Amino acid sequence: MPSPVPDDPIPPTIAWLDGAVRMIDQRRLPGHLVFLHASTVDELCEAIRTLAVRGAPALGVAGAMGVALAAVAGDDLDEASARLVATRPTAVNLAWGVARARAADDPVAEAIAMAAEDVARNRRIGAHGAALLPAGARVLTHCNAGALACAGFGTALGVIRSADVGHVWVDETRPLLQGARLTAWELDRLGIPATVIPDVRAGSLLAEGRVDCVVVGADRIAANGDVANKVGTYPLAVLARHHGVPFYVAAPTSTVDLRCPSGADIPIERRAGDEVSGLGAARTTPAGVDSENLAFDVTPADLVTAIVTEEGILTSPYAPALRALLERGATRPGR
Ligand code: MRU
Repeated sequence: MPSPVPDDPIPPTIAWLDGAVRMIDQRRLPGHLVFLHASTVDELCEAIRTLAVRGAPALGVAGAMGVALAAVAGDDLDEASARLVATRPTAVNLAWGVARARAADDPVAEAIAMAAEDVARNRRIGAHGAALLPAGARVLTHCNAGALACAGFGTALGVIRSADVGHVWVDETRPLLQGARLTAWELDRLGIPATVIPDVRAGSLLAEGRVDCVVVGADRIAANGDVANKVGTYPLAVLARHHGVPFYVAAPTSTVDLRCPSGADIPIERRAGDEVSGLGAARTTPAGVDSENLAFDVTPADLVTAIVTEEGILTSPYAPALRALLERGATRPGR
């Protein structure tokens, strides 16, 4: 299958192929680049829950393709949609993708179109965001907001690969290591110089003056501009502010949820504690001691220097800017 981005060294994250959903199995990266096929809603839900496919825009496409699977199989669409949406509560793109496919006459065609649109949208995010970065920028990022988190190209990494970037610092992103495993894999394939650091190193790196800006993705952006993203994003934003370094969020309009007035209204996914209490098969904490595993945190809007969308760059005050953005989008076909 051709890459959604011509000459892209990263194959399509998620695609509709022969009546099934084909995904890069992200649980196996960076060691193995293998594909997983889901031909039922159950199989797709399992792939989403276990992070074989992950990242907000990719989850949007997965949600739409899940509806397409259900429609082709003649499943109860309400039940299938509810199951898909419940797999991961924070990324609003998932519910958005499900709703778009449900509203379409042909869910399969709609899901395929959404994957192509996602790549085009991310290219626009990249072009807008690149203008914010200085030549030879030294960028710090958290989690994975690259091609693997989307149908292709990436949001935060879309900005990075579109800009004149000198070096990328990659937070490893405990506990599931999306930075170390996935972002580092993508940057290596793209030939962009990168260094993985423990998440806890970010503060001293900023203090040493070795970071020009932070660029991250988002799972949901509330109406006031508060941003939910992978846990660890909020402390990074605090550190960036303390050190006078710009903190940019790159996300498509489909990540904005005006029904959430503020970050306090965003549901934060709680995952199994054993993702925190172990490393691979080895337990790292004493048996009998609990682990907390909230997968996302909320960065208040006042710590965000700018939000980069496919429609352009938004700055504070975010509430009117986000409202206007969605009103403009609502008048455009394909949303
Ligand atoms: O738990 P994950 O790996 O799905 O979390 C992903 C993130 O936090 C990403 O930064 C976010 O979805 C934006 S992806 C373009």
